[in-house]
Amino acid sequence: MASPAAGGVVIVGSGLIGRSWAMLFASGGFKVKLYDIEQQQITNALENIRKEMKLMEQSGALKGSLSAQQQLALISGCGNLAEAVEGAMHIQECVPENLELKKKIFTHLDSIVDDSVILSSSTSCLLPSKLFGGLAHVKQCIVAHPVNPPYYVPLVELVPHPETAPTTMDRTHALMRKIGQSPVRVLKEIDGFVLNRLQYAIISEAWRLVEEGIVSPNDLDLVMSDGLGMRYAFIGPLETMHLNAEGMVSYCDRYSEGMKHVLKSFGSVPEFSGATVEKVNQDICMKVPDDPVHLAARRQWRDDCLMRLAKLKRQVQPQ
Ligand code: NAI
Repeated sequence: MASPAAGGVVIVGSGLIGRSWAMLFASGGFKVKLYDIEQQQITNALENIRKEMKLMEQSGALKGSLSAQQQLALISGCGNLAEAVEGAMHIQECVPENLELKKKIFTHLDSIVDDSVILSSSTSCLLPSKLFGGLAHVKQCIVAHPVNPPYYVPLVELVPHPETAPTTMDRTHALMRKIGQSPVRVLKEIDGFVLNRLQYAIISEAWRLVEEGIVSPNDLDLVMSDGLGMRYAFIGPLETMHLNAEGMVSYCDRYSEGMKHVLKSFGSVPEFSGATVEKVNQDICMKVPDDPVHLAARRQWRDDCLMRLAKLKRQVQPQ
């Protein structure tokens, strides 16, 4: 009899991100095995996924062409890693962000997998050379970094180890496309990958502007949510340049001196401490108090907004 995971996907770590990956892979029609060191986490994950999928089916947000029932039938738990990975084509590691723990898991996986499965990590910031160095199956290893919440924010950064085989990158890219995600190839590893480098550049200047008393914390956030963010949901900063003049060359001709003048006035890396933390915290807490109930409600609202935006983006996709 074929292994239940044959040609399927194994999720190692059934927390927040592991659950999202499980739902995404099932939406693409793949069999998914959920593994965790804590049996209770697997039970909770299966229950949570069942509830989420039913809710999404009711609200029309369920991904893929299968019903919630059909997708749920593809997902099962497994308390034995060696059994779970038998015959799998893709293993997605989702354990907590701790280098030693992840290395231990990849060393174990390295000793039990064959030469064809992809070994992929969800890490947000650990470099592939640190995670996969010295593994016999290093050619099959890659980072596939999702963005929270992955079900509504499709970007996945694919980051190779210097020895990762091009076919590993290609296969992972194709798999991500197949489950409706939007993969990007980071060609060489770098601290922060691409998303967090951009995010930190923005946070850094936001912090300096507030610290220097140029703008209030709430108005700073509005500049992004009602200004830059409106178009960044559809076009990136480079295409923005292209469209904001008669093409990219014209933009650089017209605006490069002005941009360089402003960029040279940027300050140093902020400390993110002291009086500015208090000031930002005070303003933000007026809008969203930092107790668990208010934070959870705001996150729920954010995810609802992202779900609607994801729908809109699908509708307005250029052919
Ligand atoms: P989490 O804490 O919700 O889940 C981690 C799971 O791993 C738990 O269920 C835990 O029981 C399990 N675990 C711990 N040790 C294990 C072991 N030895 N073998 C198997 N399972 C084990 O963590 P979360 O938030 O899901 O993060 C997982 C990974 O995804 C991290 O590397 C994180 O950086 C990355 N990530 C997280 C994002 C987020 O917003 N939470 C966004 C993008 C990536």
